[in-house]
Amino acid sequence: MTAPDYDDLYRDAATNSPPWEIGRVQPALAAVLDEAKGPKVLDAGCGTGTLALALARRGHQVTAFDVSRVAIDAARKKAAAEGLSVNFQVKDATQLSFPEAPFDSIFDCGLLHNLYRHGGAAEYLAALPNLAAPGATVFVEAISAAAGYDWKLTEEILRATFTGPQWTNTRIDEAEIDAQVDGEQLSLPGLLLRTIRAAA
Ligand SMILES: C[S@@+](CC[C@H](N)C(=O)[O-])C[C@H]1O[C@@H](n2cnc3c(N)ncnc32)[C@H](O)[C@@H]1O
Repeated sequence: MTAPDYDDLYRDAATNSPPWEIGRVQPALAAVLDEAKGPKVLDAGCGTGTLALALARRGHQVTAFDVSRVAIDAARKKAAAEGLSVNFQVKDATQLSFPEAPFDSIFDCGLLHNLYRHGGAAEYLAALPNLAAPGATVFVEAISAAAGYDWKLTEEILRATFTGPQWTNTRIDEAEIDAQVDGEQLSLPGLLLRTIRAAA
């Protein structure tokens, strides 16, 4: 399946918002925001910055990236409107390097499941351990294969991916992923992963 043009999806947002643009942090992630270690936090595939801004409001020093310049422009405007400082960057998850690394927490809300579907997961997952400080927590929220429609991630894949020697204390819970299509609220089966970057 070919990756969508994310810039086009975000450009159409005024009339036809992307399904994940629900205007609030996904409930399963909102419930664990207190677990975020700081000060340096990365939001991978941040879209228009809803989660990144919520993390900044909690006092974290947030870097956030997305491949869509349209989304990052919108995120920067939202930050400016609130007087919040977030380091928003246009970046491709398959070619990651950050002078700001390592981070104390990394959030991925809906990026990995897309890379699994459209390609690029291997490159992203290879970079992730180098972005996380020893002891850092990584949070991944993803739509699971149980949702059908060619979604591919399963608990087994996540367990096999986030394992030793790089990752420890991996916990995976079922999570409902909220979405919105034509004003209708949907809930899709998903997974919330929490794992700790092991000491080198
Ligand atoms: C499901 S959306 C989630 C956006 C945001 N995290 C949220 O929860 O609203 C997935 C995001 O990943 C971004 N994305 C997809 N492929 C990417 C890539 N290769 N590198 C960086 N971002 C990517 C898309 O532009 C989109 O903003």
